[in-house]
Amino acid sequence: RPRVLSGIQPTADSFHFGNYLGALRQWVDLQRDHQPFFFIADLHAITVEWDPKVLRERTLRAAAQLIAMGIDPEKSAIFVQSQIPAHAQLAWVLNGLTGLGEARRMTQFKDKSAKGGEGSASVGLLTYPILQAADILLYRPHYVPVGEDQRQHLELTRDLAQRFNSRFKKTFRLPEPYILKATAKIYDLQDPAAKMSKSGSSPNGIVEMLDDPARSAKKIRSAVTDSGSEIRFDPEDKPGVSNLLTIFSALSGESVNALVDQYAGKGYGDLKADLADLVVSFVTPFRERTLELLDDQAYLTSVLQKGAETAHGVADATLRDVYQRVGFAAPS
Ligand code: TYM
Repeated sequence: RPRVLSGIQPTADSFHFGNYLGALRQWVDLQRDHQPFFFIADLHAITVEWDPKVLRERTLRAAAQLIAMGIDPEKSAIFVQSQIPAHAQLAWVLNGLTGLGEARRMTQFKDKSAKGGEGSASVGLLTYPILQAADILLYRPHYVPVGEDQRQHLELTRDLAQRFNSRFKKTFRLPEPYILKATAKIYDLQDPAAKMSKSGSSPNGIVEMLDDPARSAKKIRSAVTDSGSEIRFDPEDKPGVSNLLTIFSALSGESVNALVDQYAGKGYGDLKADLADLVVSFVTPFRERTLELLDDQAYLTSVLQKGAETAHGVADATLRDVYQRVGFAAPS
């Protein structure tokens, strides 16, 4: 079975709809006929300011949310990145193969370091995509399910894999990004030109999966819509409505075209009211299940431990090959 691998940062108390529709839902689907590795990227989380206690809590919350949304610990290895030292170790090797200019060109680094200027960003933020490449390459996955914002990091990953393979010996598989066109980028409800994001969106622009469902419903009902009153899918001229249609279609399973037909002659308010109801019925059981799981920390820890064991087996074998091929002397 082909392998899939992906990760998510524990940088918020809750996942949001962009994470879920852009990536996590695909994780759930792909686990059925693939060999899945999913991890919580806590090493990446310390490239910006963090609080140790909050980080630890969010890591467990992330695990609970993954299980609650349907990642099955019997099918998937769910693990915490920092528990597998090979990630940091391979990243160090790849650091030596990456140009400084190449790292600086990553748009995420440019965006995240734009605020205070490059000088105030951490070096971790610069090498972030190189660690991400290590995360991926260690497991030799066929597919990496992510949102559109990760495409550039996947390209760097492929470049580094190819560079290593041609300079030393074929070691890494070149992974394919798995990005679903329809939901590759979910937009901010208040600013539909920007992506929904935990760091960039205003509180009303982002729908959090663990938020009080009534509050999420309210956010949907007060989403910014566009001029005119016709409901149609037109991301250029009607980005607000189009974003709502995308979310509606993804949650209901109905096609965007079917929805547009259904809402012909109706107003934005009708669409938003129905989507708000749909969101409530979707997040309510998710939230209950997550809270239940969080009450059973022993179970969560056991899932993560089992995941780490599976991950270790694969990652350590790849790292051994790498260390040998780059010329590190083997311990006796
Ligand atoms: P992170 O934690 O920011 O986001 C997790 C996943 O959610 C997707 N996503 C979105 N998709 C569509 N629309 C949005 N508005 C939206 N916001 C977020 C992201 O594309 C991502 O798939 N660098 C990664 C974490 C990572 C990783 C990896 C991923 C570390 N190592 C190895 C894959 C493979 C990140 O910051 O994701």
